[in-house]
Amino acid sequence: MKIAMGNDHSAVEMKNEIKAYVEAKGYEVVDFGTNSFESCDYPVYGEKVGRAVAAGEADLGILICGTGVGISLAANKVKGVRACVCSEPYSARLSKMHNNSNILAFGARVVGVELAKMIVDQWLEAEFEGGRHQRRVDMIMEIENQ
Ligand code: RB5
Repeated sequence: MKIAMGNDHSAVEMKNEIKAYVEAKGYEVVDFGTNSFESCDYPVYGEKVGRAVAAGEADLGILICGTGVGISLAANKVKGVRACVCSEPYSARLSKMHNNSNILAFGARVVGVELAKMIVDQWLEAEFEGGRHQRRVDMIMEIENQ
């Protein structure tokens, strides 16, 4: 499974930790950057990862900025993206099971690296349940067509 990753300057170290962590679990990572600590604009990376996931070039995406908020907002502007900011494992798991999230976002200034690993684990291991949740996800995606 291929995971697209993107981050801004506030999350380079966190991205590298999580990238190594998921690679060690056997996932392939496509790193869209940034790999610089110089101040940059998070929408650039949110859009890159959003487009990669929406186009099917990656199966899932992980985005990290200071809070996870700005970079997820940018990704969610790409049609087909369901990016969820999760600061704890329960929401991360449910965002996949009920909302079929295809991008996980979190904040490098909000969660520590060990909590981030738990969030990522729960999200990657969870599966979309479909059923009544499919109808609701379809309703969300239909909003993009209006
Ligand atoms: C950058 O300072 C910060 O605004 C960014 O990482 C993120 O938290 C925005 O949502």
